[in-house]
Amino acid sequence: MASTILSPANPSQLCSSKSAIFSASLKGSTRTHQLAVVREKGMKVRCQATSVPADDRVPDMEKRKLLNLLLLGALSLPTGWMLVPYGSFFAPPGSGGGGGGTVAKDAFGNDVIADQWLKDHGPGDRTLTQGLKGDPTYLVVEKDRTLATYGINAVCTHLGCVVPWNTAENKFLCPCHGSQYNDQGRVVRGPAPLSLALAHCDIDDGKVLFVPWTETDFRTGDAPWWA
Ligand code: FES
Repeated sequence: MASTILSPANPSQLCSSKSAIFSASLKGSTRTHQLAVVREKGMKVRCQATSVPADDRVPDMEKRKLLNLLLLGALSLPTGWMLVPYGSFFAPPGSGGGGGGTVAKDAFGNDVIADQWLKDHGPGDRTLTQGLKGDPTYLVVEKDRTLATYGINAVCTHLGCVVPWNTAENKFLCPCHGSQYNDQGRVVRGPAPLSLALAHCDIDDGKVLFVPWTETDFRTGDAPWWA
């Protein structure tokens, strides 16, 4: 390592603007050059420099490769993590189940276990769960204490209120503008223009699974408006 020390000129030289002399020297050198003595605008500048062999300043090729690899690793790791959410944005929504469906979640966010659900919910029960795309979806318990093969999306087809089940009326009654749906979610009174959407309700490994319904709406005989 070379160091540079500027050796000041003596006071008499500094005070004399036209004859000041600056000298620079490099210590610890192997070779010393007196580079130039320049007179410019009445000043003398004397430069002394030490050259360091080039081999001492440039890291060898192995070190450079190692540094490049370390740099590449340091950059690629955080970059890769940033690309994960970016890539997932373009991926289709996760199925949440092995069969391409979504496992129903109860009010506490737990997976709905079919057997346990049927122990806790009697015939005719319609209770909200979290279904496809997070939509509130009714699980239907049939009169024979089995789960219906369809779930009913609770989002009103008028302006999107969540429609509560009314056991006494045996209907879904929308509190916002009075639309009514029968016990299968078929619209029976407006202003809602359409029936509530359906989802298949399957059981997979003991868990309740909602799967998109793309077939004919069995309540109306029409193509599913939501598919
Ligand atoms: S949002 Fe349900 S009737 Fe208007």
